[in-house]
Amino acid sequence: MTLSQNDGTKRWNNNAEQWHRLFGENDLNRRDLLDPLILQVLGNVKGKQILDAGCGDGYLCRKLAKLGASITGAELSQKMLGFAIEEQERAPLTISYYQANCSSLPFLLDSTFDVVLTNNVIQDMDDYQGAFKEFSRLLKSGGTYLHIMNHPCFMTPVWGWIKDDKGEKLYRKVDYYFKRGPFLCPWGPSYGMQPTVYWHRTLGDIINDLISCEFRINKVIEPEPPESWKTEHNDRMDAGRIPDFLVLVCERIAKEKE
Ligand SMILES: C[S@@+](CC[C@H](N)C(=O)[O-])C[C@H]1O[C@@H](n2cnc3c(N)ncnc32)[C@H](O)[C@@H]1O
Repeated sequence: MTLSQNDGTKRWNNNAEQWHRLFGENDLNRRDLLDPLILQVLGNVKGKQILDAGCGDGYLCRKLAKLGASITGAELSQKMLGFAIEEQERAPLTISYYQANCSSLPFLLDSTFDVVLTNNVIQDMDDYQGAFKEFSRLLKSGGTYLHIMNHPCFMTPVWGWIKDDKGEKLYRKVDYYFKRGPFLCPWGPSYGMQPTVYWHRTLGDIINDLISCEFRINKVIEPEPPESWKTEHNDRMDAGRIPDFLVLVCERIAKEKE
């Protein structure tokens, strides 16, 4: 059975409640790795038009809107988006939400965004090339596409940790790097979430497709945990051995007509 985008969305619908409960401000990856990096890369967002593509429950939409940005959030899972809309109704911010597939956003106008960001979305998408085309169309000349995903070199169709008799992690296993396509990616038992559908592509695929869509890659970041994790969160120090995330800071090259 081939896994489809629809299967992926159903799984995100089923996981939405847990995601919303677990992946807020206190999530370590957000707090110590990704949020500071996102804010540093984007700088002053006041007055900027930002598309949060695959916005989930709207976590980043709210964070950036509170800093003065005008946000558009697009998300395919009705349940994930439901949490975003609920928060928006409770405490409105300058955010417009759409239930949509990010590979087709015809209701958004060409060259209207200063920033597009995908925070751990591209690996959950079937047609990522379609999404890159859309982001290229939607960004203004010189606009930023901030691409964050699970690192495709270390999360392949077969991956995990090889452990010794005592359960200590010896080294990371990665295999079938060139086996492109969907597979079911499990979450640790403590998350209580269904495996999600993950589409594997190679690093070369992603970079070359970004280049074809007229992006220049200005920076590559593989976030490393802060020193404090060694004492406070030693159980999460896997991330200091193998990077969980790949971040590409891309610039939309100048358009001829805008
Ligand atoms: C790991 S979650 C990340 C959510 C959000 N970016 C965040 O930072 O919390 C991945 C999200 O991508 C959404 N997604 C997957 N494929 C999508 C698509 N083709 N279009 C829009 N959203 C999509 C999923 O429904 C899910 O909410």
